[in-house]
Amino acid sequence: MNVLFEQIGRVVVAKLNRPSALNALNTETMYELISKLEKFDKSPSVGCIIITGSENIFCAGADIKEMASKNFSQMFEEDYFGYWEVFSKIKTPIIAAVSGYALGGGCELAMMCDTILASENAVFGQPEIKLGVIPGIGGTQRLTSLVGKSKAMDIILSGRNIEAKEAENIGLASKIISQNNFLNNVIKYAQNIANYSKTALIASKEAINQSLECSLKDGIVFERRVFHSLFNTQDQKEGMDAFLEKRIANFNSIYQPIKK
Ligand code: CAA
Repeated sequence: MNVLFEQIGRVVVAKLNRPSALNALNTETMYELISKLEKFDKSPSVGCIIITGSENIFCAGADIKEMASKNFSQMFEEDYFGYWEVFSKIKTPIIAAVSGYALGGGCELAMMCDTILASENAVFGQPEIKLGVIPGIGGTQRLTSLVGKSKAMDIILSGRNIEAKEAENIGLASKIISQNNFLNNVIKYAQNIANYSKTALIASKEAINQSLECSLKDGIVFERRVFHSLFNTQDQKEGMDAFLEKRIANFNSIYQPIKK
């Protein structure tokens, strides 16, 4: 198995598991990861997903051994990397827990997630320029929207490595977490998120992502309409009742019909 899955409470941990290739993403790994995530996405018992690797390697990128001998027609006809678009349709929040190298497709996988938590030893980079190519799983687009044009040019044109501190400073990683007990601390962070209303989590993710696709004016209307729609959920009643009754809210699944 190229990816190991474990559900801990409402959190699913997906661990890349190709140590001999430094967790490089071949086609098999891509299908294995995405098809399983699609199933967890539909489960009301899953509120948050973590993608991680080992302590020293998150992922060394797309599998160079798989790609090296391909020609244009093969890449084009297979729409190589095209299936990654399914990953970005997953509605459940996804956290990238990056320890060690996240290079090329590894950095792109982390950026496809909703937020990146970096261990102190995390190293990011888009080294494709050194291979005579460019990023192919969204790196030129997502890195630019995360860190701005000038910094994205610097990183992609130089192919240089970015240490955790710099990744945090430029907004690539949302925060650095101590290397000691890293994954357990990310799981705790994810459990907190996973216990909120899944409907509200999905709505938050959708509204934030919408901001990248439309004008501020349209985005604000979109947000307000989604906000209105949440008043037809049991979780909104529970969340606000719990506040007024000074107790902790007990949110339910998205599939529970609204109580009268
Ligand atoms: N694909 C396939 N195999 C890879 C790989 C990759 N991306 N990265 C490492 N490996 C393999 C190596 O070939 C080696 O295998 P063998 O034992 O069979 O020789 C094994 O993993 C160990 O690698 P190293 O000996 O190089 O390990 P290291 O500790 O000395 O260096 C590293 C670690 C700095 C991460 C180095 O392996 C490296 O630079 N890897 C390539 C990084 C890279 O260029 N990534 C971009 C790939 S292209 C891409 O991702 C395109 C895109 O947009 C999607």
